[in-house]
Amino acid sequence: MTDIPQALTVLQAEALTALEATADEAALEQVRVRYLGRKGSLAAILRGLADLPPAERPAVGKLANEVKERLEAALAARREALQAAARAAALAAERVDVTLPGRPVPMGRLHPSTQVLRRICQIWGDMGFQIYRSRDIETEEMNFELLNIPAHHPARDMWDTFYTMVDGILLRTHTSPGQIRAMREFCPQPIRVILPGMCYRYEQITARSEIQFHQVEGLAVGRHVSMTDLKGTLISFAHRMFGAVRRVRFRASHFPFTEPSAEMDVECMLCEGAGCVVCKQTGWLEILGCGMVHPEVLRNGGYDPAVYSGFAFGMGPERITMLKHRIEDIRYFWTNDLRFLEQF
Ligand code: PHE
Repeated sequence: MTDIPQALTVLQAEALTALEATADEAALEQVRVRYLGRKGSLAAILRGLADLPPAERPAVGKLANEVKERLEAALAARREALQAAARAAALAAERVDVTLPGRPVPMGRLHPSTQVLRRICQIWGDMGFQIYRSRDIETEEMNFELLNIPAHHPARDMWDTFYTMVDGILLRTHTSPGQIRAMREFCPQPIRVILPGMCYRYEQITARSEIQFHQVEGLAVGRHVSMTDLKGTLISFAHRMFGAVRRVRFRASHFPFTEPSAEMDVECMLCEGAGCVVCKQTGWLEILGCGMVHPEVLRNGGYDPAVYSGFAFGMGPERITMLKHRIEDIRYFWTNDLRFLEQF
């Protein structure tokens, strides 16, 4: 009898201790190679089997196999334990605390002008007016002549104009030229449209005047459209826009393309009509210009003024926004200062 059995026992004890001490799979692999590999300690001991007397070989061989199987089982168990520990560590490290409050996402908002513009369009839409889109770049003919404002007529002083390099082409000074375009497109059908859009005026930029601003034009044409319709429709709009308790009034005015012409005032929403700086102590705020479409303008649109009549109006969303929110400087609208825009 040699000392092979004893060597096997020592090897097994050593290998089991080494396995227990491994911290990761790489260390485990080193231990496996050292004890169970082809050039490892167990293989070295087994090589000695050949020198044993034949009678002893089966018993020692059996013992060697048992040690090998035990070590392989211990190796597999240790690998599993290491993997489970690695998984648990990863889960702990990557844990998400779902109870933490989320990071705030800064949200954009609609520009105050867009908000008011949409509200205006919605109200007119509810009253059966379609949106008609006209162009920003207009001809002098559409912007002035066909609206009963001949060249050199003093009425042109009302609109300081941006002319382009091209003769007779300008940036529209109001949305009214869209009236002619809508009439020429729909004639001879009845019309009920609003025309929202940007207008441009060659002005000194001050707290009260900008070189660009929105207007919402309105136009109704039919066989029996009267001044009563104009007043009733605009009063209805004002009540929806500013509240049903708000009083309105019409003042006679003048526009070359309407006859008669008027301006509509709404009771000041800041002082409830008592008088304040915004309404200049009058208790009233001017909201829009309006009137019955001038026969000449109807004719220019293709409608026979003996058969058809119509009303038109034009209002400025920025002006309405300024009045509603007591904004004192129109320049805030296009300077894109977030401190201003975030308030709406
Ligand atoms: N176009 C006019 C302006 O810019 C407003 C208006 C429109 C008046 C329609 C009457 C009818 O001041």
